[in-house]
Amino acid sequence: MFTENAKTPVVTLSTGIEGFDLISQGGLPKKRTTLIAGTVGSAKTVFAAQFLAEGIRKKGAYPFTVLPDRGIIIIPLSAIELKQRSSDMRVPSGSPELDRMCGGGFFRDSLILVSGATGCGKTLMTAEFIGGGAKAGEKCLLFAYEESREQLIRNANGWGIDFENLEERGRLRVVCAYPESAGLEDHLIQIKREIDNFKPDRVAVDSVSALERVGTNRGFREFIISLASFVKHREIPGMFTATTATLMGGPSVTESHFSSITDTIILLRYVEMLGEMRRGVTVLKMRGSMHEKDIREFTIDGKGMHIDKPFRNIVGILTGKPEYLNVESADRLSGMFRE
Ligand SMILES: Nc1ncnc2c1ncn2[C@@H]1O[C@H](COP(=O)(O)OP(=O)(O)OP(=O)(O)O)[C@@H](O)[C@H]1O
Ligand SMILES: [Mg+2]
Repeated sequence: MFTENAKTPVVTLSTGIEGFDLISQGGLPKKRTTLIAGTVGSAKTVFAAQFLAEGIRKKGAYPFTVLPDRGIIIIPLSAIELKQRSSDMRVPSGSPELDRMCGGGFFRDSLILVSGATGCGKTLMTAEFIGGGAKAGEKCLLFAYEESREQLIRNANGWGIDFENLEERGRLRVVCAYPESAGLEDHLIQIKREIDNFKPDRVAVDSVSALERVGTNRGFREFIISLASFVKHREIPGMFTATTATLMGGPSVTESHFSSITDTIILLRYVEMLGEMRRGVTVLKMRGSMHEKDIREFTIDGKGMHIDKPFRNIVGILTGKPEYLNVESADRLSGMFRE
């Protein structure tokens, strides 16, 4: 289909494929327009298209999916242009202590990555994020790929957050799916559709790393970039969780793909102390804001999460090899940085 604007000589050529138009400046393409569809790398996830025409709008390889009601859908990676507006408005994280650590809460349009080992408290932090949003009168959308709906509701209840009641009041929508129930592209389309339909004020995905195993490394990277840019464009806060490869931390695939595009990174870590596994939390980065640099103790009980005092006289928590310092060494170390 060709549409022509009388005032400006710009012609839009619809290819019949959602998300894939041609724009031609100064008239219709003179050369023959050819669409080459094929597979690059992983068989069904990448669609290579090349238009031999004047004025190419999109060029390169794009992930795509095929939906019965919409045909071929190209996942537009071009949405990643860094054009989003930036807000200095803060929203509550759900924990007053975490808000303080972040200099007064999360920025309204920020992407937050919560990374930690299994059982460290990532789902709890997501539940608090949802609870905090609902308390502030926001609509929250939660995608869960690791736990069933019943399990999530039970666990959140155990932390004092009533997901069922929030859903009844229209403050929350919980979408649970098995990672293997669909391809990455279809998960992405579902996430986008839910966000477009529910129009949440904040969104959480727990965990993104559960989806690592569904596609190829490249497909997963494209999924993450597309997901992050989609949420960013909605100018709402998005919390994403990632499970580290080992119990004591260490980077995960999700973390390595996500860390440069997220605005805030929160690390949850186990700390072995005197024969006991304790937990620590730190704000590793927060773009555009002052934040605390301490590693604080993080505890969980029937009321949810609590952030306590910073760990002192202990080094190596983030590398997974905590070591105690005697008071003398600790004094000497801190003295090194004094004037
Ligand atoms: N009511 C409670 N009282 C004390 N500790 C609790 C309570 N509920 C949960 N916990 C602790 O929280 C942990 C689970 O937290 P959470 O589900 O948020 O972890 P996670 O990082 O999401 O784990 P996973 O990687 O398995 O999804 C439990 O292992 C338990 O130690
Ligand atoms: Mg979890």
